[in-house]
Amino acid sequence: MNIKKFRENTAGTKNVIHFNNAGASLMPKVVSESVITYLREESLYGGYETADKNRESIEQTYSVIGRFINAQPDEIALLENATAAWNLALFSIDFKDGDRILTSKSEYASNYLSYLRLQEKVDIKIEVVPNDEHGQTSVTSLEKMMDRNVKLISITHIPTNSGLVNPIEKIGDVAQKYDCFYLVDACQSVGQYPVDVQKVGCDMLSATGRKYLRGPRGTGFLYIKRDQIENLLPPFIDLHAAEWTSEKEYEIRNDARRFENWEMNYAGIIGLKKAVQYASDIGINRIWKRVTKLAEKLRWELAKLSAITVHDIGEIKGGIVTFTVDSVSAQEVKNYLSKNRINVSTSSKSSTLLDMKDRNLSELVRASVHYYNTENEIDQFIDALKNMANQ
Ligand SMILES: Cc1ncc(COP(=O)(O)O)c(C=O)c1O
Repeated sequence: MNIKKFRENTAGTKNVIHFNNAGASLMPKVVSESVITYLREESLYGGYETADKNRESIEQTYSVIGRFINAQPDEIALLENATAAWNLALFSIDFKDGDRILTSKSEYASNYLSYLRLQEKVDIKIEVVPNDEHGQTSVTSLEKMMDRNVKLISITHIPTNSGLVNPIEKIGDVAQKYDCFYLVDACQSVGQYPVDVQKVGCDMLSATGRKYLRGPRGTGFLYIKRDQIENLLPPFIDLHAAEWTSEKEYEIRNDARRFENWEMNYAGIIGLKKAVQYASDIGINRIWKRVTKLAEKLRWELAKLSAITVHDIGEIKGGIVTFTVDSVSAQEVKNYLSKNRINVSTSSKSSTLLDMKDRNLSELVRASVHYYNTENEIDQFIDALKNMANQ
C-alpha cells in the first residue's frame, strides 16, 4: 500500500493524528472537492438544473455501491445516515403480536430503542442472543433459540464500543435455514471489512458514509435483497417512492428506492460515490488487512502501559480499539489527546447498554484506526499517553 500517497491525498493528516475513524474518517481530497464543486455548481446554476445536468453521475452511485457490497443497483436506497436506513428496514416488516426479534448483546442504543418503540405498537418479544466465549454473538445459542415465531434476526456487525466483529456470515446461514428476516447493521464495518451481502445472506443491511467509507457526513444507504423488496413496505412513502394513480390508489416502486424520499443531498451523494470508488480502487481486502494490523499494534502497545486496560472482545477484531486509563475519565483522556492534536472519541454506557452492563464498564476511550494511519502515529499516541500519566 502506498500510504504516503494516501496521506498526501488526505489533507487532514497534516493537521491531526486522526484515530476517530469510527466517528467520522478524514475525507480524501477527491471526496471533499467533489462535494464543494457540486455545491458551487448548485449556487451558480440552480439546484434542480444541476441535478438534471449530473443525473448520470448521480445514478452511478447505485452501481458503485452495489459493486462494493456485491449487490445490484436496484437493491440500493440512498439515505441520510445509517439510522434512517436501519429504521426504515425495521419498520417495513409486518410484525404481528407474538413475533420474536433476536438481537445481539452489542446492539447499538438507537436500534434497541426502536425495538422498544415498536413494542409499544405490537406485542413483539425482544430477545438477546448470548455471547460465546470470545464475546461475539453465539451462533450455537442463536440456533437453539430459533423457532417459527422468530420474525427477525437483527445483528450489529461491528459494534461502536469494542474491537468485536460479529460472525454475520454464520448467522446468515441460520437465518436462511429458518426463513426469517435478517437485518445487519453494518454502520461500522462497510469500508473497513469486506462486506459481501451474498456471503452474509442478509435481507437488509444499513451503512453510513462518514465512518470507514470516508464519505461526507449526512450520507448512508440501505441494501434490500431483490426477492424481499415486494415483501417490505416502507412505513411512509412520498411521490418518489410511489406514484399517486387515483383517489384511492397508488403504485409503489419495485426497487429499493421505495425507501427513499424525493429530496436528497446530491452533493453528499456525489461525495459518497467518490468515497466508495476510492475504497474500491484500493481494494477492501487490502484495507481490512492494514486496518487490523494497525489496530493489533495499537492494542499491543497499549497493553504494555500499566495504567491502561484494553477492553476489546471478539475472536476477530477490527479497527476499533477501546481502553480505560486508571483514575482518569475517558473525557479527560480525550481532552488531553485533543490538546496534542490527536483525535479519539469516547463511548458511554448507554450507547451499548447491554454489553457495557455485562462487562461492568461505564465509559471507554475509543481509538479507531484506518489504513491511512501509520505505525509512527501509533508511537506518538502512546508517547502522549505516557506523558499524560507522568503529569
Ligand atoms: C453500530 C452503529 N449503528 C448505527 C449507528 C448510527 O449511524 P448514523 O449516525 O450514521 O445514523 C452507529 C453510529 O455510531 C453505530 O456505531
